[in-house]
Amino acid sequence: MMSQAQNDLLTRVGRGTDGGALLRMYWQPAALSDELVSGRPVVPVRLLGEDLVLFRDNEGELGLIGRHCPHRGADLCYGRREDNGLRCPFHGWHFDRTGQCVEQPGEPEGSRMYENIRAVSYPVVEKNGIVFAYMGPGEPPPFPALDCFAAPDSHVFAFKGLWECNWLQALEVGIDPAHASFLHRFLQDEDPAQSYGKQFRDKAGGTDMPMTQLLREYPRPEIRVEDTDYGLRLISLRHMDDGRSHVRVTNQIFPEAICIPMSNEMTITQWHVPVDDETCYWYSMFTSFGKPVDKSLMREQRMKEHRLPDYAPLKNKRNNYGYNPGEQESLTYTGMGLDINVHDQWAVESMGRIQDRTHEHLGRTDVAIMKHRRKLLAAIKSLKEGDVAALPMRGHASDVEAIRGPVSIDAIGETAGWEALWPQADRARRAGSSWAAGV
Ligand code: FES
Ligand SMILES: [Fe+2]
Repeated sequence: MMSQAQNDLLTRVGRGTDGGALLRMYWQPAALSDELVSGRPVVPVRLLGEDLVLFRDNEGELGLIGRHCPHRGADLCYGRREDNGLRCPFHGWHFDRTGQCVEQPGEPEGSRMYENIRAVSYPVVEKNGIVFAYMGPGEPPPFPALDCFAAPDSHVFAFKGLWECNWLQALEVGIDPAHASFLHRFLQDEDPAQSYGKQFRDKAGGTDMPMTQLLREYPRPEIRVEDTDYGLRLISLRHMDDGRSHVRVTNQIFPEAICIPMSNEMTITQWHVPVDDETCYWYSMFTSFGKPVDKSLMREQRMKEHRLPDYAPLKNKRNNYGYNPGEQESLTYTGMGLDINVHDQWAVESMGRIQDRTHEHLGRTDVAIMKHRRKLLAAIKSLKEGDVAALPMRGHASDVEAIRGPVSIDAIGETAGWEALWPQADRARRAGSSWAAGV
C-alpha cells in the first residue's frame, strides 16, 4: 500500500512535477513513423501533458515544436509546410524545425523582433518505425543497443494503442507475470500453427504444448526479480508435474518500458508513454530473430482492433470491451474476445484513470511492481538532489550504449539446472538469427 503523496509523485507527469522530471530524462516515443507517411506529414502530439506538433519539413527533416504559435496561440497543426519548418496561417510567422522564428512578414520592414521569438522545441530521432523525443534538460542520453534498435528495419514492426489510464498502472500489468494464467486464459487451445503475430499462442519453448495450456495448468509461478543495469529482470518459473519447469524471462527497462517474449521468433519491447496524467499510449516494437517481420499482416491484424488517427481501440469501456457472458463461460476467462491487448486494457482501465494505490493489497506475485516503484522513488530523489549519474541508464554514455538485449525468452527443461536453460535457449536463437543479434 502506498500513501497518496507517493502515488501522486509517481503518477503526475506534467512539467514541474517530480515524476514528470524523471520521465523527461529519457527518450520518449512520440509518434509512429507510419503517422508521417500517410497524407500530410504534420501530426499533433500530446506527450507528458504538453501539446506539440511533429512534422517532416520540405527538406525531409523532422521537427517537434509547441503546438500553439508563440504569437497569439493559433494551432500550428494547421501550419503551412514551407522550407525548413512551419508557417502559422494566422499572421504568417515562420518557425524553422528547431522552433526558431525566422520571419514575421506582417511586422515593419527591418524589424528583428523574430530573433527573440522561439517556440518550444525538442530533439527527435527516428528508430525502426518510432519517432522518439527528448523533453528533458541538457544533452539527451545515448540510446542503449537494445535488440529492437539493433535489428534491421525489416525485422522490426512498430505499432501503438491508446489506453485511458495513467501510464504506471499500464506498465505494471507488464511486470506482473502471474496475470497471464488468468486474464489471458483460453479455455480451449488454438492451433499454434495459426499463431503468427499473436502473443501466448505459440508452442511453449521447444515443446508441443501450446503456451495457453501451460499457463492454464500451472497458475502459481515462482517469481524471481534481479536488478540489472537497464532495470529489472523477471524470471518466472512454472514447475510442471513431470520434473520439468517452464522458465519465462521478461524485463522492465527503466523507467517505463518492458521487453517480453511474444513467440519463439519474436520479442516485444513496449513503452507505456504518458499522454497526460490520465491517458497513455503503448508503443510496441515487435522484433524478429528469424525471418523479416510480415509488417502488412501485423498491421492488418492490429488495424482490425483500432481506429485512426488516434489508434484508439475499437473495444473500450463505452461498449463494455465487447464483454460476452457466454464467451466467458466457454472460451475466454474475460469474455472479451481473443485479443489479449483488450484483456490488458480492461484490467488497467477498470482500475480508474489513476489507480488509488492507498487501497491495494500487494501479494507475492507483485514483487517486481514493488521493486520498480522503489526504483522510481529512488530515482526521483536522486534527480531532485542533482545526481543524474545515479539514474538507471543515465551514467557514462559508453555504459548506456553497451546495454544490449535484454534476453526475453521462454524455455522448458529439467527443473534441476533451470538456471542454464534460458541463457542456452537465448544463445541458440541469436546464433540462428539473420542479423547480428549478440548480447
Ligand atoms: S498567431 Fe501565429 S502568427 Fe499570429
Ligand atoms: Fe497481459
